[in-house]
Order: sequence, then C-alpha cells, then structure tokens
Amino acid sequence: DGIVVAIDGPSGSGKSTISRRVAAHFGLGYLDTGAMYRAAAWWCIRAGVDLDDHSTVAQLVREMPLEISTDSAHPTFIVGGEDVGVVIRSTEISTRVSAVATNLDVRAELQRRQRDVIAAESGQAKTGHQAHSGGRGVIAEGRDITTVVAPDADVRILLLADEEARLARRAREVHGTVDEVSLAATRDQVIRRDADDSTVSNFTTAADGVISVDTSALTLEEAVATVQEIVSA
Ligand code: CDP
Repeated sequence: DGIVVAIDGPSGSGKSTISRRVAAHFGLGYLDTGAMYRAAAWWCIRAGVDLDDHSTVAQLVREMPLEISTDSAHPTFIVGGEDVGVVIRSTEISTRVSAVATNLDVRAELQRRQRDVIAAESGQAKTGHQAHSGGRGVIAEGRDITTVVAPDADVRILLLADEEARLARRAREVHGTVDEVSLAATRDQVIRRDADDSTVSNFTTAADGVISVDTSALTLEEAVATVQEIVSA
C-alpha cells in the first residue's frame, strides 16, 4: 500500500508549501485539510447562517457537496460545482474559519472525510469510493493529522517556527511585504486564530512518535529537503 505522511503545524510554519512540494517530489497525493475547513466556513457563510449556531452549522457541513482533487500540481476544492480554491483564501474566511473549525461536530464530519481520502489514496479503502489513484500514497497536512486523523501514519511530522518567522512569512504572503503595518495586520489574524484553533487541536508540541522540525532558520528549500529526508528514511 501507499505511504501515509501526516504533517501538522501552526499558521506560517510552512506546512502547506512544504507538504505540496514534498508530495510532488515523491509523486504522492496531497490533502490540504485546512482548505476543507475553509470550504466549510465559506459554505456556511454563503448560506447565511450564524456560525455560532453549532447544530445548524454541523448539519450544513454534513450536507456540503465537496469534491477534492489531491493532485499536488493542481489541488482543487469544488463545492456544489463551484471551484472555491481562491475564495476560501479571503481575509473574511481566514478571520472566521476558526468559528467553524472549533465546532466538534464539524470536526467529526471533516475528519471522517479526510480519513476516507487518505484510505483511498493509500490503497486501504474498503470500497471503491473515492479511489483516485489505486494507492500511490498521500501527504495530509493540517492541525490534527498526526494526532487524530492519521495517528497511525507511516511518517508523522510537526513543523514549528518561532512567532517572528511565522508572522513575517504570513505578512509577505498576504500583503506582499514585511513592514510594521503588514506585521500588525497579520499578528491580529494569525495569533488569535492559532489561539482559537489550539483549544481543539494540539499543534504546538509533538505527540509521541512525531518528529518535530523547526523551520525558523531554514529556507524553503532547506525545509523541503529536511522533510524529504525524513520521508525517505
Ligand atoms: O495556512 P494556515 O495554517 O494558516 O491555515 P489552514 O491550514 O488553511 O487552515 C485554516 C483553518 O482550518 C485553521 O485556522 C483551523 O481553524 C482549521 N483547521 C483545523 O481545525 N484542523 C485542521 N486539520 C486543519 C485546519
């Protein structure tokens, strides 16, 4: 069966970029679980529901028709026929996604779908359901993959970076520049979001058997090389 690689980390740790590159390098599927929470937030906001209404939000997410492509060259998220890849990266979604992601019934539903994708990608699916690839293997990244979604993964990695590095990366990504204004805007979003997220997932300390990699002082190429070595070992 195909290998399963689980990668977690806080915002700005580099996990999406690194995971996608490493998946491409090894020809593995790539699953961005954060995009699933973002898609769920988008779906609920579009339906006009109060994100604090737990049972309504959970029911809506259970009904969300989400199609995922795990192709690392073109990861796509289609909700009800609409490609939401760009709109789920908006500031509004980034600001409001934690309200949906801290809903434990939403988590149960999305974790179930994530396990289905991982099983299909690694060739362990019990049914033909969602069999994309016949088991090429997969890298799944998020906040709770090493601990909850795939604690039995073949390789489990926690990417860490100090706050300064994480803020600088996010400021550059979102605002295109790192200065006082962009850092302040980023701090407000990233720090609060990580604090909210950490009430439901542990992504600040490595669980037993999880290898942590501090990317603070690493270039992207160095971080990718480090993760590749761990996956090959
Ligand atoms: O890129 P960044 O780490 O900032 O965020 P993301 O991976 O796009 O995830 C967006 C949001 O989804 C996070 O802030 C969490 O609220 C939620 N999330 C989660 O709860 N569990 C996961 N496994 C992945 C994401």
